[in-house]
Amino acid sequence: MERTFIAIKPDGVQRKLTGEIIRRFETKGFTLVGLKFLKVSRELAEAHYDVHKERPFFAGLVDFITSGPVVAMVWEGEGVVAAARKMIGATNPLTAEPGTIRGDFGVNIGRNIIHGSDAIETAQREIALWFKDEELVNWQPHSMAWLH
Ligand code: TYD
Repeated sequence: MERTFIAIKPDGVQRKLTGEIIRRFETKGFTLVGLKFLKVSRELAEAHYDVHKERPFFAGLVDFITSGPVVAMVWEGEGVVAAARKMIGATNPLTAEPGTIRGDFGVNIGRNIIHGSDAIETAQREIALWFKDEELVNWQPHSMAWLH
C-alpha cells in the first residue's frame, strides 16, 4: 500500500494547527501508520532538503526547520502521495487554492506550515530517513460495513 511522509513544520505546530491537519487526513480516509514529535537536528534537516542544497533559500530553510518541534507522520492509502500534495496546496501559500492547508492557513513561502513528499520514490526516501522500520505500525482499519 502506498505511503507518504508528512511533516507539520515549526510554524504549523506553533500556530496550533496539528489537530486540524491530522483531522483533514483522517477524515479524507487515509490511515496513520507513523507519528512522532521531535526537534529536528541540523543533520536530519540537511539530509531531508538535500535536493535544495545549492538553492539560495537552503540555509534559511534548515534554520527554520530546526527552530522548533515538528510533527512527523507517515500516512497510508491508495494514491496518498498525490492526494496529500493536493490537500497541502502550492508551495507559496499566497497562490495556494483556498481549501488547501497552505491556502487556508498560510501567507509566507518560507513559513508554509507543512511538508509532503512530492513523488512515491521521494516518499520512500523520506520515510526511511525519518522513521525506523519498527516505528511504523502495519495495521488496517476494520471494515465499517457494520455502520450501514
Ligand atoms: P519545494 O520542495 O520546492 O516545495 P514543496 O514544499 O511545496 O515541496 O521547497 C521546499 C521548501 O523550501 C518549501 O516548502 C519552502 C522553501 N522554499 C523557500 O523558502 N523559497 C523558495 O523560493 C522555494 C521554492 C522553497
